[in-house]
Amino acid sequence: MERLPGFRDFYPEPLPQPDLWSADARQYIFDKWRSMARRYGFREYDGPPLEPLELFTTKSGEEIVGQLYNFIDKGERAISLRPEMTPTLARMIAAYERGYKKPFKWFALPQLFRYERQQKGRLREHFQFNADIIGERDPAADAELIALVIDTLRSFGLTEQDFVIRLSSRNAWQEFFQQRQGDPAQEYAFYQIIDKLERETPEASEQKLKLAGLSLAEVSAFIEQGKATAELQTILDNLAARGLSEYVKIDYHVIRGLAYYTGVVFEAFDRKGEFRAIAGGGRYDNLVKLISGGKVDLPALGFGMGDVVLLELLKARALLPRFDAALDGYCLIEDETLRAASLKLIQDLRAAGFVVDYSLTPTKSDKQFKRAQELKAANTLKVERNLAGELMAKVKNLKTRQETVVPVSEAATRLGETKG
Ligand code: HAM
Repeated sequence: MERLPGFRDFYPEPLPQPDLWSADARQYIFDKWRSMARRYGFREYDGPPLEPLELFTTKSGEEIVGQLYNFIDKGERAISLRPEMTPTLARMIAAYERGYKKPFKWFALPQLFRYERQQKGRLREHFQFNADIIGERDPAADAELIALVIDTLRSFGLTEQDFVIRLSSRNAWQEFFQQRQGDPAQEYAFYQIIDKLERETPEASEQKLKLAGLSLAEVSAFIEQGKATAELQTILDNLAARGLSEYVKIDYHVIRGLAYYTGVVFEAFDRKGEFRAIAGGGRYDNLVKLISGGKVDLPALGFGMGDVVLLELLKARALLPRFDAALDGYCLIEDETLRAASLKLIQDLRAAGFVVDYSLTPTKSDKQFKRAQELKAANTLKVERNLAGELMAKVKNLKTRQETVVPVSEAATRLGETKG
């Protein structure tokens, strides 16, 4: 039985085949995401993976609607797996914003589902680190989020040589469009042409722009001059004060595909341009109002960082650590009359927080030792009786080969010392 196309199985390391997805690498990424979000004062939230279809059809825009994994459930409800987290977040905020002091900073690590064509960096399921700030209009909030993107990527060992944040503004593009008397009904369609500029041929873009009454030459000239708006300059200055200037540049190619963005937008890319976007986000000051039917009006902004492109990039730059099983101890049970005493020791060590394993059934001692080595145990432990008949633990450090015999009650202390 095959798994569905675009979905992944995650195996524990060591992987029997290098192209399999690693559950350890996934956990490594989640840990870094969580820890950096918390360092920035973000609090974790979550929502359901299934939502009413309507939550996405009116708010996210055409492109994502075409990629929805939707169906009718047994209760005749039109539902969809979540393709993104932002509409769920907006709904959650609208329901209980009064219970929180503003601005609030929240993060989540949802699994998302998009029925799109499978390609490099794009699957039908991915995990996405979402961080959002709600209730703050000042660009200081935009800068704070961008700093979080930068610090998160730096925590994996990536540097300014590896990635860059391309900073842009829908306001700037809106002004551009209005100055040229663009038809307001075509505004979002125009944004989509800009969004696809780098992926389409110039001829195709020229054709589409012409229908909107614009030319590729004027669009290209606007991108080329790349002058920061006052708002973008404030963000650049804020990031410069943090020593993060090297990680950002103004780039009006970025406009974002999703319909709800209203102001500053940004995307993180690898410097060499080999991969799809690592992360993307921006302001969506009207979404909470839209989703709450006008009841709650709060400015908001955030970003999403996917695990797929990030992992491709970390692999390409050889930045993933080795994921060893890393046991603190493997208990050798060579004398079956000591199995009960060994189990007691194993439980005590686990209760003290150590990672300990052993052979579940009677096994030849050389096989047990081999297993300890395969599992990269730091120590082996063996329960023995001394001449006085007392239970002792023989602890052997497999790196230094040093062996000590201590009363079983002191085995935890001994293991703690070797952990260093
Ligand atoms: P997005 O640009 O659609 O934004 O996705 C953000 C990131 O998720 C992308 O840069 C990419 O790394 C990853 N990603 C998206 N689709 C896929 C896919 N099919 N396979 C693998 N990775 C993917 C959003 O989703 C916004 N809701 C982010 C946001 C949060 N904006 C404000 N708050």
